[in-house]
Amino acid sequence: MAEDFTDKVVLVTGAASGIGLAQVKLFKDNGATVISVDKNDIPMNIETFKGDVSQADFIEELFTKIKTKYDRIDIVCNTAGILDGYSPVTETSLDQWQNILNVNLTSQFMIIKKALPMMLKQDKGIFVNMASIAGLVADGGGVAYTASKHAIIGMTKQLDIDYASRGIRANCIAPGAINTPMNAADFAGDGKMAKWVAEQTPAKRWAKPEEVAELTLFLASDRSDYIHGSVVPIDGGWTAR
Ligand code: NAI
Repeated sequence: MAEDFTDKVVLVTGAASGIGLAQVKLFKDNGATVISVDKNDIPMNIETFKGDVSQADFIEELFTKIKTKYDRIDIVCNTAGILDGYSPVTETSLDQWQNILNVNLTSQFMIIKKALPMMLKQDKGIFVNMASIAGLVADGGGVAYTASKHAIIGMTKQLDIDYASRGIRANCIAPGAINTPMNAADFAGDGKMAKWVAEQTPAKRWAKPEEVAELTLFLASDRSDYIHGSVVPIDGGWTAR
């Protein structure tokens, strides 16, 4: 039986598009109170906490508001992230490197650091951090993206084992080819790149963001209570080859 999320407060970053937007919709459909965070407006009639998750000031402000308004947090979906143009080292400036790491990795660390004390007080809390197949193998992005996603997996494992005995669970999702605005370039023109990606994927297709949202809901539910510090690929078999 599906779990009731009615009493749960769920934070989702990257909520305005793609996977984050699908997560927001599914959690809301399942009764959760959702705190939607993005630097862009969210195309739904719901309250948006608008700002840049890589900025410490914004995270500080966000959690002040969360404490005042909800005074609890049950589930955090660290979903916001950006691609790096598949650039190798020689084409990656130090600024670009730092920006990718700040947006993809440090934002997650800052949010975890704020949410964790609230969760520890509740003796319960769940993190679902967005990694990628680029967190497991090379070639899913450039050097900065791949480094950031590998680091998210390491951070999540350590977070989990440091606090598992105190009611905290942290896991990563590692998506493969998901059809979202992030990959719009692959579908541009005759969509040759998108066709190539589908061809290279054992399942021979792209996935919809809603499929990643379904996995998120499972990892955020008590049905997955024994899944700790894991990376769950949802990649049509890409990393199984
Ligand atoms: P998307 O581009 O459709 O959505 C990302 C959202 O994050 C956007 O609404 C954007 O405004 C927001 N965002 C980006 N930087 C932000 C910042 N600094 N502050 C606040 N919000 C920010 O991308 P998609 O595909 O939904 O990706 C979501 C996550 O899934 C990312 O972490 C991405 O790396 C990961 N992922 C996506 C895959 C795919 O094939 N689409 C594959 C593997 C991982």
